Amino acid sequence: MELREAIASRRSTRTYSPEPVGRAIVEELVLQATAAPSACNRQGWRFIHLGDRADLDWLHRRGGSLVLRSARQALLVCYQRNTDNAEWQDNIQSAAAAIAYFQLLAHEMGIGSCWICHLPPPREIVLKFGLPPAYMPVAVVTFGYYKEDRTERESSVNSRQRLLAMDRWDFPVEETDTLTVAFMVRTALRKFYYVLPFRSLLRKWVERYEKKFDE
Ligand SMILES: Cc1cc2nc3c(=O)[nH]c(=O)nc-3n(C[C@H](O)[C@H](O)[C@H](O)COP(=O)(O)O)c2cc1C
Repeated sequence: MELREAIASRRSTRTYSPEPVGRAIVEELVLQATAAPSACNRQGWRFIHLGDRADLDWLHRRGGSLVLRSARQALLVCYQRNTDNAEWQDNIQSAAAAIAYFQLLAHEMGIGSCWICHLPPPREIVLKFGLPPAYMPVAVVTFGYYKEDRTERESSVNSRQRLLAMDRWDFPVEETDTLTVAFMVRTALRKFYYVLPFRSLLRKWVERYEKKFDE
């Protein structure tokens, strides 16, 4: 598959074939994905393979996305946070580049994936998976072979005027340009939810408000 074709046809996949992706292939994907650029070439990324049902269910129960329940495998992507340029969150940017590479490489091998940031608070993940103090979790990427009956979805089409400005911000004004009160209320509620120790008990109720995807 050509790079442009891979970029154009990759879509987030949230259900997978039952066949597991073997360890050698996971290793190959991770090795190739870390050809991605990283700030100061620090390459402080680490990937933890999660293949235990109990771990994926724990992530969901503690507030993570529903997708975690339908996945059999995932990568917990971590990045070294002792960076000198923390105000630009260059550790997160570097890990994000590796994730994007991973998703494209996987797609080329018939493996679908989904980037998940709807997760329990980072401090809980640090404790659960034993991360050392200098590392922080950035995201979880679920993955698995595509199902045979997968329907290919079109990507959303964007216009040049909405994406690219020349020299200064001169995009047409949109409603989403400002931070609304509703957004601030949602953010506050979310923060409150993630400090509740009995969060697992509210899971079913909260799920009603989670965005549902086709796949
Ligand atoms: C930073 C980031 C976080 C995301 N978190 C989630 C998530 O928690 N749950 C989920 O189902 N999809 C998640 N996604 C996938 C997006 O929903 C998806 O990329 C988007 O809808 C566009 O669809 P596409 O990937 O098929 O082009 C995330 C993607 C990114 C880049």
